[in-house]
Amino acid sequence: MAELNRAGAEVSERLARLVLDLLMAMAVPERFLNDWPALNATRRGTPQQLPVLAWLDELADRTSPILAPLLKEISRAAPKLEWRQTYKAEDFGPEFLNRYGWTELIGLRGPIASTKIACGILLLGPELLYPAHAHEAEEIYVCLGGAAAWMRGDEPFTSQPPGTIIHHPSWMPHAMRTSSKPLVALYVWRGGDLAAKSKIIAPS
Ligand SMILES: [Fe+2]
Repeated sequence: MAELNRAGAEVSERLARLVLDLLMAMAVPERFLNDWPALNATRRGTPQQLPVLAWLDELADRTSPILAPLLKEISRAAPKLEWRQTYKAEDFGPEFLNRYGWTELIGLRGPIASTKIACGILLLGPELLYPAHAHEAEEIYVCLGGAAAWMRGDEPFTSQPPGTIIHHPSWMPHAMRTSSKPLVALYVWRGGDLAAKSKIIAPS
């Protein structure tokens, strides 16, 4: 059995506290702040790196002053965290996997256990389309750094700067598209299966 990743546990607890402080300071719907667990990492894990992390350092200069400390902390913590991918090459092609990854801080899989919410960090490389997908959990994203255009439901893609909160109700199709810059964003899921693979929405 894997050893408790103590360094990963400590940075996850620190990041989770910074994330919660940020969310409480923003106009995040209160239901996304309820049901947070005590921010103690108890789950075993193994640090895992992904190709998308190559863009993390350049994101440090592409944010607002209020978000910069959290982004810096994510960058420092990244080598100790378990970065994962939900999709396979057959979903969106092999190049997608070079430019996509996430790590869960809180939830069914991350170092801090919760059955009520999942919270983590999404990274996308530049020149990437994350095609339309949907999931049962209600979700908010907070853009932390970089840039992307976001699509919600039937709305057109709209550029969202760092600091924007994006809400996806349960099963609302959504997609993201980066251009020359990568993207780092926080996500919080609540309700539904917190470890479910999203349903891919075929283009119409
Ligand atoms: Fe989503």
